[in-house]
Amino acid sequence: MAFSVKGFFMFLLLLVCGGMLANGDIGFDTNYNVTWGFDHALPMDEGRQMQIYMDKYSGAGFKSMKWFGSGIFHMRIKIPVRDSGGVVTAFYLTTEGDHTQDELDFEFLGNREGKPIILQTNVITNGDANREQRILFWFDPTADFHDYKILWNHHQIVFYVDDTPIRVYKNNEKIRVPYPSRPMIIDASIWDGSNWATDGGQTKIDWNHAPFRAYFQGFDTISGCTLDNSKRDVTECYASTYLWNHQEYWQLNSTQQEAYEKVKREYMNYDYCTDLQRFPTPPPECPLSAVVIPS
Ligand SMILES: *[C@@H]1O[C@H](CO)[C@@H](O)[C@H](O)[C@H]1NC(C)=O
Ligand SMILES: *[C@@H]1O[C@H](CO)[C@@H](O)[C@H](O)[C@H]1NC(C)=O
Repeated sequence: MAFSVKGFFMFLLLLVCGGMLANGDIGFDTNYNVTWGFDHALPMDEGRQMQIYMDKYSGAGFKSMKWFGSGIFHMRIKIPVRDSGGVVTAFYLTTEGDHTQDELDFEFLGNREGKPIILQTNVITNGDANREQRILFWFDPTADFHDYKILWNHHQIVFYVDDTPIRVYKNNEKIRVPYPSRPMIIDASIWDGSNWATDGGQTKIDWNHAPFRAYFQGFDTISGCTLDNSKRDVTECYASTYLWNHQEYWQLNSTQQEAYEKVKREYMNYDYCTDLQRFPTPPPECPLSAVVIPS
């Protein structure tokens, strides 16, 4: 009897350990490095979760050790609760450098208590950052972790929130629309964006509510084509050996397209493509039939 009880507990122990290993969530240190605000970055749960926080002394950021030339990049994120106007939490791919960088951005723009947090995306090419889109959430992004994902292949770049496409940037190089084509790293950070992020910079950070804490998970194997940073282009990463380069990833399917249209109809609150004051002639990548956003 005693033996079988002991055996049962051994069995339980094996189950628990096996579960941990099978979980596949390799620790933060395997793929990422904290890059700034070292004392404002707290690994948790054996590196499966990273908290980065901002107070009036510093924010913090981390990035992948490797560079990539295509892939599906995701992060599970829970953004700061409470009065977070002016606080920007970001998850993005970037070539790094100023003025000529390519970058694919998720930027969570904090807000005053009770006012909506906004998700801004941007596609920056050669330093040109004039492609902002902003949407509202259909859930509370401060309450739970949600999955934020960027697909990048030779045909399109798609931003997803929990598998719902919220932005598509097609490769229109044929009509001379720039398309990111240099190796990028994965980056995440929390910083003071009070000069622009909330109400065009009018809402400042209320430091009484600091620290502002953002949580990240999903540091497991990165689904990306790794490339040496010195490569000038990413052509070799467009090979069909990679899943995300397969034809079904070249465009949204009908279900995805429908979900995307719904987001544009119901949740979009800014689109540079329809900002005629700023761009009397919409940039060439903007669809002619762009949905008009009610102001
Ligand atoms: C990342 O951290 C590791 C371990 O601390 C270090 O060896 C490596 O040089 C760092 N890499 C970069 C790109 O900073
Ligand atoms: C569209 O793609 C999604 C995600 O891969 C998939 O779950 C869904 O079944 C596809 N729908 C159609 C109609 O092919």
